[in-house]
Amino acid sequence: MPNRLLLKAAQSKQLESFTTRNRFTRPVVHRYVAGYTVQDAWNIAAELKADGIDVSLDFLGESVEDLAQVPDAIREYRTAMERLAEVSPGATISVKLSQLGVLIDPQQCAEHLEDLLHTAAEYNIGVELDMEHSSAGRPTLEIFRQFLPRFPRLRQAFQSYLRSTLADLASFDDVQPCIRLVKGAFDEPVTLAFQDAAEVTNQYKYLSAWALQHLPDPAFGTHDESCISYVIYLAKELNIAPSDFEFQMLYGIRRDRQRELAQQGYRVRVYLPYGAQWYPYLMRRMAERPANLMLFLRSAIGK
Ligand code: FDA
Repeated sequence: MPNRLLLKAAQSKQLESFTTRNRFTRPVVHRYVAGYTVQDAWNIAAELKADGIDVSLDFLGESVEDLAQVPDAIREYRTAMERLAEVSPGATISVKLSQLGVLIDPQQCAEHLEDLLHTAAEYNIGVELDMEHSSAGRPTLEIFRQFLPRFPRLRQAFQSYLRSTLADLASFDDVQPCIRLVKGAFDEPVTLAFQDAAEVTNQYKYLSAWALQHLPDPAFGTHDESCISYVIYLAKELNIAPSDFEFQMLYGIRRDRQRELAQQGYRVRVYLPYGAQWYPYLMRRMAERPANLMLFLRSAIGK
């Protein structure tokens, strides 16, 4: 399970300010983040596409404290979409609703999302909603439900560590949702989330089987080999074609496996973040694998 201390550090504004101004951290940042500009992201999206890998582009930023920041994020996504489908046909964008102000004003957040959804449709680009900490989880899910009938290809991330996930998935009656199944990357209390890594993995496998049998075009966001091979095994058992589901992985993690799956004929999509606000994203990646932290700390102190 993600390391709790590192997840707390992900929320520290002081550490954020120290590390983001520190030029020595750049090499480690670049392992997980496409770069600072949309051009960096387009370049990497095109490279991945040449290897048969799709992307989901994430303009980094989350938990805005002021709604005045939201239009900048919308503008950036619009700019990103102008060339995205050209450099990587089939690409999607991934959006965190806390970046659109869901924690401040869910109604305004929904209006901003609608704006983005229309622009994305014009460019023939899919939209995926990340699932964040549970404080943003319920409002995110409500907005997703509200848009699903009109935008049935909108994809929502669901976390296998949450005890409520199966009930949430089973609660859709008319339009069945497209989902991205992930284990979950935030610090949650035991009342809401399984804490034991093996239990989260078992739950992931159970929900994978459920999604393959009940939901359209599920996406499996994981680097865990046991989960990946379980999905491959189940799909074969259930006679589900590789074109009817996809694997998703994060940029910079298990690159060889990404290519190998694509070469074997599976659909693979890489979550590709870019922008200056990389700190909380990167700290969550450290929390998933604390061994990465030594590399990061050494770079931060210039060693
Ligand atoms: P697990 O953590 O067990 O890792 C399995 C193996 O993968 C490790 O043994 C290691 O080899 C490798 N690995 C995993 N993380 C690594 C890292 N950081 N650095 C290097 N190697 C690593 N979460 C969330 O709460 N909301 C969301 O919307 C999303 N969205 C999302 C999209 C996509 C495409 C992915 C792949 C993941 C997410 N996540 C997420 C993150 C997810 O919840 C989870 O924290 C990570 O994927 C790690 O879990 P794994 O399933 O990879 O297994």
